[in-house]
Parts: sequence; C-alpha cells; structure tokens
Amino acid sequence: MFSKRLLLGMLWMSVVLDVKAQKQDPAITQKVDLLLNRMTLEEKIGQLNQYSGKALTGPATAKSNDLQTEIRNGWVGSVLNVKGTKNTREVQSIAMQSRLKIPLLFSLDVIHGYYTTFPIPLAEAASWDMEAIKLSAHLAAREAAASGIHWTFAPMVDIARDPRWGRIMEGAGEDPYLGSCIAEARVRGFQGKVLGDTDAVMATAKHFAAYGAATAGRDYSGVEMSDHELWQTYLPPFRAAAKAGAATFMNSFNTLNGIPATGNSYLLRNILKGKWHYTGFVVSDWNSIGEMVTWGYANDVKDAALKAITAGCDIDMEGGAYRKNLISLVKEGKVPVALINEAVKRILYQKYQLGLFDDPYKFCDEKRESLVLNDKKSRLAARSVAEKSIVLLKNDGAILPLNTNLKTIAVIGPLAKAKRDMAAAWNVNQDTTAVVSLYDGISLAIRGRQTVLYAKGGSVMHSSQQDIAEAVSIASQADIVVMALGESFDMSGESKSRADIALPGNQEDLFEAVAATGKPVIVTIMGGRPLIFNRIANKAQSILYTWWLGSEAGNAIADVIFGKYNPSGKLPVSFPRSMGQIPIFYSQTNTGRPYNNEPEKLYLSSYIDEQNSPRYAFGYGLSYTTFGYSELKLDKNIIFANDSVTISFSLTNTGRYAGEEVAQLYLRDEVASVVRPLKELKKFIKVQLQPGESRIVHFVLGNDDLSFYDAKLNWIVEPGVFRIMIGSASDDIRASTAFTLKK
Ligand code: NOJ
Repeated sequence: MFSKRLLLGMLWMSVVLDVKAQKQDPAITQKVDLLLNRMTLEEKIGQLNQYSGKALTGPATAKSNDLQTEIRNGWVGSVLNVKGTKNTREVQSIAMQSRLKIPLLFSLDVIHGYYTTFPIPLAEAASWDMEAIKLSAHLAAREAAASGIHWTFAPMVDIARDPRWGRIMEGAGEDPYLGSCIAEARVRGFQGKVLGDTDAVMATAKHFAAYGAATAGRDYSGVEMSDHELWQTYLPPFRAAAKAGAATFMNSFNTLNGIPATGNSYLLRNILKGKWHYTGFVVSDWNSIGEMVTWGYANDVKDAALKAITAGCDIDMEGGAYRKNLISLVKEGKVPVALINEAVKRILYQKYQLGLFDDPYKFCDEKRESLVLNDKKSRLAARSVAEKSIVLLKNDGAILPLNTNLKTIAVIGPLAKAKRDMAAAWNVNQDTTAVVSLYDGISLAIRGRQTVLYAKGGSVMHSSQQDIAEAVSIASQADIVVMALGESFDMSGESKSRADIALPGNQEDLFEAVAATGKPVIVTIMGGRPLIFNRIANKAQSILYTWWLGSEAGNAIADVIFGKYNPSGKLPVSFPRSMGQIPIFYSQTNTGRPYNNEPEKLYLSSYIDEQNSPRYAFGYGLSYTTFGYSELKLDKNIIFANDSVTISFSLTNTGRYAGEEVAQLYLRDEVASVVRPLKELKKFIKVQLQPGESRIVHFVLGNDDLSFYDAKLNWIVEPGVFRIMIGSASDDIRASTAFTLKK
C-alpha cells in the first residue's frame, strides 16, 4: 500500500489535464459502420471534399454544371457559401440523386450574426458577460439554421497579442483564461442543447493553432514558438472548445515551428486527436492543403494531400487536393484505407447526429426561415449585447451621461452615419441598410426634443481643410459634440493587417480642430482592433470605445450616451501607447531588472523613449458609478495539495448610478521552477449593484488554478507563496493578500 505521503507526492506531480473522450452514441456509430461498408473508395473520398458553392445556385454555368455532376456522383461531402432554404434545398436535392443519398453539410462563416449582426467577437469579449456571448451565438445559430445552414466556421479562439493582425477582431483578445471562458460560451451558444435541434449549428474551433501569433502581425505568416508558450497561452481556448463539445476544428494557415498546421501531426494527431481524445472532425482552411506546396513543405499537391491526411486533416476545403489525389495515393499504398475510413466516420457521425439522414431538408423550412429572420428577439438582444460591449475609456468631469436638457447636439465624423462599417468584415447575409448608425441612434433617442446637427468632417482616410472648417462651424453651433471616428470595415479582418495602427488618416486633426471650439467633446471610436490615438486620449473629455457593434450600433451607443445603459465593458486586450510596445500584454513575467517608473535610471527593463505601461490596460473600463473593494479575506493562509482556498471580499457601489462591475482576481506564483507571470487572470465575476449596495463575492481557487506547465510540459502545482490580487483592471488592483501551499 502507498504511504499517505507518497500518494500526496504523486498527486502533486500528476495533475493531468487531458480532455475526456467525448461520448459517442453507439447507435450512431453502428449506423456509420454499416454505411461505410457500402461505400466505394471514391464515395469515401467524396466525404472529405468540400467546395465553395457560390456558383451552384443562380444562372447555369459550366462551373455549376461541373459541381452539380460532382455532387450527383457522390464526390462532395459538404459545401460552403450556399445559404437560404431555397438554395440549400435545391443543392441538397442534387445530393439526393447520388447512389447512397448521403446528405451534404452546408457551412458558412457565421461569425457574429447571420441576418441580425451582433458586435464583432472582440467587442463582445469586452462585455465579460458569458451569458450575453452565449445568447449572441445562439441567436446567430438560430437564424443561420433557419436558413439552411448546418455548420458555422466559428468561434475563432486564437489568442492575439498583436493588434496589427487584422483578425484580432474575430477573437476574444489576449488572455487564455478569458479566451477559454468565451470559447466555451460560444460553442455552447452555437450548438445549443443538442446538435440536431433546428436552432443549433455545429461550431468550429479555429484556427488550430497559433494563428494569432503570426510573425510581425502579418496575416498568414509563419509562427516560431516554444512548446511552453504554445501550451500555456495559445492552446487553452482550443482545449476549452473541445471540452465544450465543438463538433469541428479548422486548421490554421500558418506554420508552427516550420510545419504548416494543416500537415502538422503534432497538433492534429498527438494533441487534438491523441491527448485530447477529440472525436469531431478537422477541416482545412481554404486551400491550406495546396498552400503547403507554396510554403515549400510539399513537392506538389499530391504530396500535400498525403501530408495532410497523414497528419489528421479530415476535410479539404475548396482545394480539390484530396479529390484529385487520394485515390492514387491509396492505390499506390501510400495512404492506408484505414486513414480514409477514420476521417469519413468522423464526418458521417456528425451528419447522423444532425438528423440529416432522416430528413436531409430538415433545415430547409421556408416558413420557419421567414419567421425567425423577422423575429424582433434577435434585434433586441443585439442591442443589449452591443451596450455591454462598449468600453468607457475616459469621462472627465462626469460629462457622460448626457443631460437631456441640452438643446443642440452636433454629431461629427466620417463614421457618424456609417451603416456598412458597423456590420464589419464578416457580413454574410445582412441587409446593411437596416443597420442603425450613430446619427440615427442619437436622433431616435431624443425624438425631436433637441436639434441634431451633422458634419461628416471628411473620410476615414482624409479630412480636407474645408471638411474640417465645416465640422468646426457645426460644432460651434452646438451645446455638445459627439464624434464618430475610427476604421472603416475593410481595415480589420482577414488579410487586413496594418503596419501602423494609428487612428487612420488625419482624424486626430479633425478632433483637435473641433475640440478647439471649446465645446465639450465625446469621442466614440469604432474599429476592429486596439488603435493608437494619443492626442484624443489626452485631450477629449470623454471617450467610448465602441468597436463595430452590428445592426443596433447607433441605438446601443445612444443608450450609453444618454445613460439608459451604464457602461460595463472592460478591455479584453491591452491598448499600446505606441507601435514599438507591440506585443504588449498584461501577463508579462518579471525581469531580473524590473522597472518601476524611475525614468532617470538606466540598465532596467524599459524604453528610453516610451513608458512600459499600455495606454489602456487589459481589464480596464469605467462606469458612470464607482466601486469599492474591501474586506479581502482568505478562508486559510496555508493549504496543502488538492486543497482549495476561498477568497472573499466586499464589493460596493460607491457612486450615484446603478451599475455593473467586473471584479477580477489575478494570481502570482511568487517562485516556481519556471518563471511565472506577474499577474494572471484566474477568476472574474460581473456583479450588478444599486447605489450604496454591497455584495460579498467569493472565489474558490483549486489545484488547477494554481497549476502551470513546467519545463517538461507537465501540468503541475508547486509549493510556495501565491499572491492574490483583486481589482477593477489588471493595472487597478484594489487589495492583495497571499497564502502558502505546503508540501
Ligand atoms: C479563410 C478563413 O481563414 C477562415 O477563417 C474561413 O472560415 C474560411 N476562409 C472560409 O470562408
């Protein structure tokens, strides 16, 4: 028998965090096996083949005829970019003419809404509200599923610490813990109670892996990264998505340490399908199998197909590499049929799970489509989620919320009347004329009680002297000015990396000219990434970071401006002061020469021309009210392995407005066998409080929260001192204490 001490010692070292195998329904696996036995090699490979079907509907063309023939012959397993009940029914009916009548899967990039557009994912992450994020994904799924879609290519769970990377807008920001919570919420939101319900779609955790760490923030570039960094920072949200049951994963375009992700068996076989026991299927990114040739990793497309299927990529998106080469690769004995069977089984399983074999047109109900797409529920939710996504960065003199006695408001700026921009890059199916602009939102909110003046002040990229003069003249006639500045929709997103993330054009000149009128100026900044706007940060009285908020953008911003909603958003990503600070993130480690704001001292880890701190820190965001933190307590100061510690404190609304605070708990493992970050987010909670109201908040930290990857990638907890920090932002710690974990 083991002695108690030995047993404890073993537990100590072997807290292994593998994902449990997802349970499969034996009745479905049996059906899958039976069907597989009836399939020819060609039909099997067909399941691994996905085409973009834009040409499939509409006027007949040579391409559409070819695609139709492929489907009829059973050489296509799924299609992307065909949407709407009419179109999906039409294309599905072609698959029903194939020998085995295996239904097609219809997939689409439903990233932040389908017909109703929700805020971009980075904006929603700023809500730190998991229920709101889940609801947004659920309503997007509900609309898409009503419109014939079975499968969305979302959520993107890539951690991103470089705002030059345009796709930072599609993710949840810089932090692995917040990112994991959001990954789970989004997967659960998209996939609903059970897959097969007609208000749910299959989710895709993408892009596996480390895509967000693209060298120099340039989209599609390679990634060199230590395993340690991969495991501690980039993999956790993927693991959370797998654990939450994400039906599919998508490869990333990048290489990871020299191996393209699509052909990377370490990622796909060892980690995902091995250690994590993942039973869903993996789709390549658009032609990412073929791109392995361009990378210089495969001799030709056939070689790329061999590498991808061997590594564990199940579906070839739009590349045709599997379709053209797998048969000969099998015949030449280079690809065992067992490998093909394994991939096919994963795909068929999901098709059965969706109920498509019972009714291939299950998602093609035109009546349901029209009801769901016209249901006001989605617009109401989009407005509420948008309100929660707004971050109040500055509010000098409590200028916001605006007093309703003001007579004249000037709305100024290139994005004041923008609609298309609010829908951002992934606008898959929306009528963007239905978007509420900021100008419309403000006008609706005051309903004729006040005068709303308007000046465009130029375009996002340029304000001429005349534009500026006109804006100044309009501002001079108003009591207060609301400015709408930022990026246009095509400046962030896929392939929209920027080498300079300053607020574009000369919008800061426009701001300064307007501010020089002496009128109070509220600046709203819209965009898909953290931007740099130091002059505005220094001089504006009030700044709202409003991202791109979707269909209800203008209404949501007006709700915040007029105090109908008290802002509660917190930044999910650090905002740099200057480009040279990138990558900047809060969970840095200490150095041997830490810098503590001592500008005159040299030989410390600092810049000679810039501060170390970000302009706005991770977790930062103001409210119209204030919150006090007090009575921080631990239930014990000493714990032993596998114990937990309960942290409690009192949170009080110390201001005049009802509001919500995101209370954050950060942890530091003071001394460890691998240097640990100065602070790591471990828990958070969003609490609503009336003025004067207090609530005791409890957080429990267990073994897992104290663990980290050691130098050999074991997930372990080590004895020693752990510092607990409670606060309102990563740079606004209000109380701190410590406990010791003993052997
Ligand atoms: C390429 C993008 O990287 C991916 O995120 C998207 O899902 C596919 N294209 C399909 O549109």
